[in-house]
Amino acid sequence: MDNNFPHESAAKHVTGEAVFVDDMLINEQMLCGRVVYSPHAHARIKSFDLGAARQVPGVHAVLSYQDIPGHNQMGPVVQDEPCLAEGEVHCIGQAVFLVAAESGEIAFEAARLIHVEYEPLEAILTIEQAMAKNHLMGAERKIECGQVDQALQEAPHRIRGRLHTGAQEHWYLETQISVAVPGEGDEMTVYSSNQHPSEAQAIIADVLGIRRNDVRVEVRRMGGAFGGKETQANHVAAWSALLARTTGRPVKIRLFRDDDQIITGKRHPFLIDYEVGFDESGLIQAVHVELNSNGGMATDLSFAILERAMFHADNAYFIPNMRIIGRVWKTNQPSNTAFRGFGGPQGMVSIETMIDRVARYLGRDAAEIRALNFYGKEPRHITPYGQAVENNRLAIPHERLIQSAEYQQRRREINQFNAENEFYKKGMALSPVKFGISFTTSFLNQAGALVNVYQDGTVLVNHGGTEMGQGLHTKIYGIAADEFGLSADRIRLNATDTAKVPNTSATAASSGSDLNGMAVKNAIDILKSRMIPVVVEHFNHIHTGNKTRPQDIRLHNNLIYDHHQPKRMISFREAVVMCYLKQISLSATGYYRTPDIHFDREKGRGKPFHYYAFGMAITEVFLDTLTGYHQILRTDILHDVGDSLNPAIDMGQIQGGYIQGVGWCTTEECKWDEKGNLLNHSPDTYKIPSIQDIPKDFRCQILEGYPNPKAIRKSKAVGEPPFMLALSAWLAIKDAVSAVADHRLEPHFSLPATNEVILLAVEELRQRMKETILV
Ligand code: MTE
Ligand code: HPA
Ligand code: MOS
Repeated sequence: MDNNFPHESAAKHVTGEAVFVDDMLINEQMLCGRVVYSPHAHARIKSFDLGAARQVPGVHAVLSYQDIPGHNQMGPVVQDEPCLAEGEVHCIGQAVFLVAAESGEIAFEAARLIHVEYEPLEAILTIEQAMAKNHLMGAERKIECGQVDQALQEAPHRIRGRLHTGAQEHWYLETQISVAVPGEGDEMTVYSSNQHPSEAQAIIADVLGIRRNDVRVEVRRMGGAFGGKETQANHVAAWSALLARTTGRPVKIRLFRDDDQIITGKRHPFLIDYEVGFDESGLIQAVHVELNSNGGMATDLSFAILERAMFHADNAYFIPNMRIIGRVWKTNQPSNTAFRGFGGPQGMVSIETMIDRVARYLGRDAAEIRALNFYGKEPRHITPYGQAVENNRLAIPHERLIQSAEYQQRRREINQFNAENEFYKKGMALSPVKFGISFTTSFLNQAGALVNVYQDGTVLVNHGGTEMGQGLHTKIYGIAADEFGLSADRIRLNATDTAKVPNTSATAASSGSDLNGMAVKNAIDILKSRMIPVVVEHFNHIHTGNKTRPQDIRLHNNLIYDHHQPKRMISFREAVVMCYLKQISLSATGYYRTPDIHFDREKGRGKPFHYYAFGMAITEVFLDTLTGYHQILRTDILHDVGDSLNPAIDMGQIQGGYIQGVGWCTTEECKWDEKGNLLNHSPDTYKIPSIQDIPKDFRCQILEGYPNPKAIRKSKAVGEPPFMLALSAWLAIKDAVSAVADHRLEPHFSLPATNEVILLAVEELRQRMKETILV
């Protein structure tokens, strides 16, 4: 089957027929839920009075932690996150009370009448403040290889530095939302926009004090998630279930955009200190790097994210002596959480900064220094944590991209342009990505499926993955259609449902299609192993001559046939009816677990990843040094997806991931005041990339002819890796700024490189130039 078909919901998205949680027709009894949250970054709750709020006509419930029937807890990994604040609040945006009312206006009015007396306490708002107070979230982590101190000592050159990376708001188009519908007894059905329905089910059961078999969570689709609904969609789900349990009516909570931005966590900001030792040729000999992340008020996924940052502090480079220290700092901000790349971008930007500085120090082209340090053949193929980089796809795309992007020629043109223009500058940079595929928490690498075949020859596929726009269901369609030899119109993908496939992992770590695709294939293999003997027996019964054997059977074009004797043929539908009459089960579960991965956290060694995804980008920017305004002139990407499951979907992921990464690197900046209030919590002040930010010339290609032996249909995960290709845009801006000083001085700036940051960096560079000339 041609696998380049459009997203299964594309037409529905465009016409508006696609059903999101907010579109669901529940019934006229549905109430509107509202979250009342802390206005203080840190405070003691001295007293509160819900009396007046409860009196408002149309209000059905006003709840505090005292009204929770089960456990006041919704931490996903560590139990350090109360469902509703109890005694103290630890960030602005922390949920303290819940209201259910007949309308949003009434709920708002009731919320206004809640009286709380807070006693403000000292708040920790930045990594630096947390460091000064030694406010660690947990123990420091370390990965180390070689003799770092000795190699740094002996290196001919050394550079040290510090780098900050910013927070990033997920800005899914659909804000956090959940509808909870109580049933009979303890039954609770929850429609949630959620990457992790099984965890939502567990937390709802725990908060309500009921059993998991009473809770069903369904996810049809999300209007974007990007990691922001991996754990924190559970909060809204639990709150809506709590209100539904109390009122006995369906309750919907949909966060307003401003509330969503204030309440939910973001990408972890990092503070990174590094030292790199290298030789005359630019070969890196040793690196010491310390990754410090701002975890916020609770653990959430911070340690898994830190771990992934540490696993990517080498990016695509072999570093024989490397020490990576990781720490999570506890602050009075909403708990920071998963965001596309999951720490990978923060880890990679540290080594990319180092390489860039090495090149500038030596007066060499940074793309050359990168290639020089790439992972290569034995012995230059072992990561600091001991995993061998197999099926390395760095050299070929590098060579091809340098060619197809006419890197050398354009470098000369850029130099020419910069020599002729005092205030306009251009810059260009190449950056590679090597991204480890698998959940770093090894046991999460499992998935299940349930495939039902009906007597009209149609198929209903259930699997544990969720659809957030990334095209997982579309890819599963393709897999199911191919495995059964059916046209796509015979197949339907069910909404993800904890009652159909239990104990699932989050759809995350880019492994949705790897894991669920295999589980679906496993279920279909089981069904075929039941159906084929029935078909073989039928052929041998009605035909004389050579016997058909099970291995002769093919499924294609909605038919089942003996490929040696094509006259022996039956339609899929007839075969199904035949199986039914012979009392053969037409429903099967499937299961998959990733083999052979492990990691020892104590030792910092193991094989955490099933394989790596590779990509490479070259970005060219234009910069106005008088305003800091910049524009991406051209981007060339060559990205490795193995044998693509669906090239159109993969291309969307590559382009979308890159642009989202450009947002993190350039325009997206979260600003807080000194009390911890987020100042930009709406799209007028928080700048995600818009149509103008797309490269003027965007040449994106899938690397063809490199199948991946490790995954379903020789494909490769694609969801997150392209995000980090955007580092080439940040590095290109740095290159353009550095042109102000004719590349002789090092520009100083961190992420994001907003216009303001760029302008200040240019000014500071000009100042240093004057001083340098004066000396
Ligand atoms: N693409 C779209 N359109 N919307 C999303 O929310 N999330 C990203 C990526 N691509 C996302 C997306 C993230 S963070 C991950 S981990 C993967 O999709 C998850 O899906 P997959 O495992 O099926 O690739
Ligand atoms: N990615 C996303 N989510 C996760 C991971 C990961 O590597 N590990 C645990 N949860
Ligand atoms: Mo993606 S950050 O693993 O949800």
